[in-house]
Amino acid sequence: MSDAQMNGFDTLQVHAGTAPDPATGARQVPIYQTTSYVFKDADHAARLFNLEEVGYIYSRLTNPTVGALADRIVALEGGAGGVCTSSGHAAQIMALYPLMAPGRNIVASTRLYGGTYTQFTQVFKRFGWSCTFVDFDDPAAIEAAIDEDTRAIFCESLANPVGYPIDLEAVAKVADKAGLPLVVDNTSATPYLCRPIDHGATLVVHSTTKYLTGNGTVTGGAIVDSGKFDWSASGKFPSLSEPEPAYHGVNFHGALGAMAFTFHSIAIGLRDLGMTMNPQAAHYTLMGIETLSLRMRKHVENAQKVAEWLEAHDKVDKVNYAGLKSSPAHEVGKRIFPRGTGALFTVALKGGYEDCVKLVSNLKLFSHVANLGDTRSLIIHSASTTHRQLTDEQREAAGAGNNVVRLSIGIEDADDIIADLDQALAAL
Ligand SMILES: Cc1ncc(COP(=O)(O)O)c(C=O)c1O
Repeated sequence: MSDAQMNGFDTLQVHAGTAPDPATGARQVPIYQTTSYVFKDADHAARLFNLEEVGYIYSRLTNPTVGALADRIVALEGGAGGVCTSSGHAAQIMALYPLMAPGRNIVASTRLYGGTYTQFTQVFKRFGWSCTFVDFDDPAAIEAAIDEDTRAIFCESLANPVGYPIDLEAVAKVADKAGLPLVVDNTSATPYLCRPIDHGATLVVHSTTKYLTGNGTVTGGAIVDSGKFDWSASGKFPSLSEPEPAYHGVNFHGALGAMAFTFHSIAIGLRDLGMTMNPQAAHYTLMGIETLSLRMRKHVENAQKVAEWLEAHDKVDKVNYAGLKSSPAHEVGKRIFPRGTGALFTVALKGGYEDCVKLVSNLKLFSHVANLGDTRSLIIHSASTTHRQLTDEQREAAGAGNNVVRLSIGIEDADDIIADLDQALAAL
């Protein structure tokens, strides 16, 4: 199919990255369940290892099923290249790995998934990296937090747990001025609601575990590179812009231009860190991603109805959803996420922590799980679970206070979701 026929999101999510299998004509992407690939001869093997020819060597690096998924996500995000990883957490470390070294830091938003907060505080320390957290509603604060050792700016587009929309254009301006890459976790928005690269992001990371797969079957992650960042301009990214000793002295940016980050992620990131997606997981995600836009439209429509209903309920103190006119983030939401601000939000109950816990156990249709972005409606009390490792202050800044529950609204009938909440709230 020519590119001219492949412009629309609904078409790309079904076709991008795949064609009938060249060996068998199989229409669906086969699950290439193999660890290795037979070389044609010694020269062929050497050319592959020298990056003179692109092909398959070993499935820790590349695999056709996993590659098809990576290409599809790249197409949906409007990037130049990308890789899949074993989880969203792996994607974050893998995205930062080429940029960082002991003593270097990143500046990240205070509004993050709790596990990311922990990764950036605890795991970073062991690598000799560090992270400064600031309020990304305040571009001056981001600018002030950047120093000589900063190597990236990091935020979530629709920040977990509140589904809080970040003004990516304002953040990208700060990153641009500082000559730093902006890394955006687009998990909760998906490329259907927002393409961070269009707003100035350099790299996009995903937990494909969530909406991209959509059915709660497999963990996975992805990194998409815009291909637009000049890794050689500042001298701050030697692993990309100078001879890299981990790969017999290849200068990735010099040799591969816009594909430097992608090839580095395969040849060094996946090869040495081994955070590889398996082909079975890629298969489930390829199945799910075919219906991404349809699901996201229904997720958003349901979330809006449920949030409006909850806002009017007398046991509810506050609904934090950018789709509501009462939200301070409503305007940013409309500008950066014109198709809607997702289906993730928090609800503060007048009865505080006690009522939050009772609500969770009273619900019947909702599942009480540590996940989001499933077709099913999900609920969790973030403060005691996903954001458990944070201090009270950090939890407040992330929007995960004690008196709130986080809802991930599914694609069931909105009336049934509301009926379940109605009975659970009535029983408080
Ligand atoms: C926004 C966000 N990013 C990243 C992750 C980590 O993804 P994974 O669980 O696939 O490692 C999560 C997990 O909940 C998340 O919500």
